[in-house]
Amino acid sequence: MKFKKILITGSAGLLGRHVVRELMPHSHVIGFDLKKSDESIEQIVGSTTDFSAVLASCKDVDAVIHVAARPNIWSGTGEQILKDNVNGAWNVLQAAEEAKVKRVVLCSSDSVIGFTVMSGNLKRPEYLPIDTSHVLRPTDPYALSKQISETMGRSFFERGNIEIIALRPVFVLYEEMYGEVKARAKDPSNYKGPAVGGPSAAGGGPLWHYVDPRDVASAFRCALEVPVLPKFESLFVSASTTLAPNPTIERMSAFSNQAYEIRRPEIYKNNPYAPLYDLSETEKVIGFTPKYDLRHLLY
Ligand SMILES: NC(=O)c1ccc[n+]([C@@H]2O[C@H](COP(=O)([O-])OP(=O)(O)OC[C@H]3O[C@@H](n4cnc5c(N)ncnc54)[C@H](O)[C@@H]3O)[C@@H](O)[C@H]2O)c1
Repeated sequence: MKFKKILITGSAGLLGRHVVRELMPHSHVIGFDLKKSDESIEQIVGSTTDFSAVLASCKDVDAVIHVAARPNIWSGTGEQILKDNVNGAWNVLQAAEEAKVKRVVLCSSDSVIGFTVMSGNLKRPEYLPIDTSHVLRPTDPYALSKQISETMGRSFFERGNIEIIALRPVFVLYEEMYGEVKARAKDPSNYKGPAVGGPSAAGGGPLWHYVDPRDVASAFRCALEVPVLPKFESLFVSASTTLAPNPTIERMSAFSNQAYEIRRPEIYKNNPYAPLYDLSETEKVIGFTPKYDLRHLLY
């Protein structure tokens, strides 16, 4: 790993902990979070909304992985989510630039496309699979905060002082959610969730998308290992399957009551349960492919 010292915001969160574990063997890792975690790493307790704290934490750091955020539409009012997530991303980018950090990886979300979990606001994709050229139509404050953060990332990249990339994980399937996923698969039409003690309802939108947190962590490592980032990109990070009971094209057509333009039919021919997102760009740019397939949870 060419980056020796890495700051990880959101290091005490569910995803952040996996990112910390993934990077610890490769670099000196510093955690930055509102709270402490049990990991034996250098930790800074602070808020990304506090510019001076973020700037001080970036001192002598080579790369930043910005994971901290209000992580979904239930994590505050729209105003709080927008304010904290946008202000946090701005502070990280501005501080990283001032401290001469070489690379920043932003944690975005597939929700920027418009597959919001806010019922009734789901946007029909223009074509399948959805690639990075697809129009962005966020319809809730969380998704909007992620789109604005990506736009800021692009703007800082264009200034030419720092390499920046955004990753867009789909619903991250943590182990504590396995019970909910099983309950939903058993009785899809009646599942409202959380039904069996999970922290929230099984998510992933109508296609039941998911990605294992270990795969997301590995995608973040890949984003640091790639030698050069010639331009700003936002890349999808998903498992190579969905958790839906029926194949992707069949399910999408039934869901929208309409046929779709399928731009890469070979993807769904080779893998009927492939996600809505084209992962080939992620593989091409940062060399990431998902390892964990959790469809066994359905049977
Ligand atoms: N969980 C998912 O399904 C999912 C999907 C796509 C993207 N994401 C993104 O992944 C990231 C991590 O989410 P998670 O699932 O680990 O949620 P989480 O709530 O477990 O972790 C978020 C962490 O960020 C910290 N944090 C929040 N606001 C902060 C602030 N102002 N300053 C410092 N630390 C702050 C929290 O204390 C927490 O430890 C978020 O950016 C989220 O938007 C999550």
